[in-house]
Amino acid sequence: MSDLNQKLSDIKVVPVIAIQDASKAVKLAQVLMDNGLPCAEITFRTSAAIESIQRIREAFPDMLIAAGTVLTTAQVDDAIQAGADVIVSPGFNPTTVKYCQQRHITIIPGVNNPSLVEQAMEMGLNTLKFFPAEASGGVDMLKALSAVYPVTFMPTGGIKPSNVKSYLTLPNVIACGGTWMIPNDLIENEQWDELAKLVKEVANIIA
Ligand code: 3PG
Repeated sequence: MSDLNQKLSDIKVVPVIAIQDASKAVKLAQVLMDNGLPCAEITFRTSAAIESIQRIREAFPDMLIAAGTVLTTAQVDDAIQAGADVIVSPGFNPTTVKYCQQRHITIIPGVNNPSLVEQAMEMGLNTLKFFPAEASGGVDMLKALSAVYPVTFMPTGGIKPSNVKSYLTLPNVIACGGTWMIPNDLIENEQWDELAKLVKEVANIIA
């Protein structure tokens, strides 16, 4: 298993974050680190993503930082420059995948059917995001895919406390992603204790 996969499988749940204000990034990362989730997928859905990754990287050199919702090669450059460890994309875009391979950074692209899994395998990938997980058949779909393909998945999309364990018990699931433990209003209002509670709940579920 690669170092990255080992880290993901130790962490088990990756918080997916659309942060609006980079000045809050370090405090948010601190809450994650202190409460059992030493990882963040900072999505490029907001203009604060690059600066947030930079700030978290500077404050926590060892934290696992994914750049999420990466759709273009320019965003790959920005994510690498900011200090991301890994690129995550919602779909399978061969241009982005090829570019990440040229730049020697791991990409976990999204797939949700056998044809996309095969296209990703053909490009040498064996760890894939399964997105949107619940809408694409959830645990049953992953069981069907695992019967056929020697790849591991990071399901995301519709995962919550009530179903996260059913995903994590599948042998082909390395970790799950989700936004449920990081509601944006708690970040915006700097309700760090409330956030800590939600993060701790996740840590307890997966313990
Ligand atoms: C993602 O980018 O991976 C998804 O937005 C996460 O989906 P969720 O909000 O249902 O957890």
